[in-house]
Amino acid sequence: MVCLGNICRSPLAEGILRTKAEQLNLEIEVDSAGTSNYHIGECPDIRTIRNARNHKIDLSKLKARQFTVKDFDSFDVIMVMDASNYSDVISLARNENDKKKVELILNRVYPNANMSVPDPYFGGEDGFENVFTILNNACEVIVNSLIKK
Ligand code: 4NP
Repeated sequence: MVCLGNICRSPLAEGILRTKAEQLNLEIEVDSAGTSNYHIGECPDIRTIRNARNHKIDLSKLKARQFTVKDFDSFDVIMVMDASNYSDVISLARNENDKKKVELILNRVYPNANMSVPDPYFGGEDGFENVFTILNNACEVIVNSLIKK
């Protein structure tokens, strides 16, 4: 799961997907990263931690890190939150195989629509709940696609 800062959207997506996978006994490795170096080593935004906690998901032990080219080797699928994350990650791809791994997460819900998960960082608390609803829905589609495999 990749966003810009790795403190709002992608850590929440990581927590939601990991929780759903555990509930279904799906053995997948889930991680998140940011395209920027702005918040390396920091915990998720306090508003994200609080929102996730309201939904029984603990993000308090996560630490932000920056996406690196090695992530193309470590993961089968790289889900990005918005168009700018998409171009930043694609610009690090070494070959077509790397590029094929990168997907806009909302294309799992709205195929080919190329929609972005809104960035809640500069807004109010309701933006965080909105992002939770969007990512919860997307992660439900993702785990269902894994069950059917
Ligand atoms: P995120 O949100 O990409 O969902 O983690 C942001 C976090 C920090 C900044 C921007 C977006 N920032 O400019 O510091």
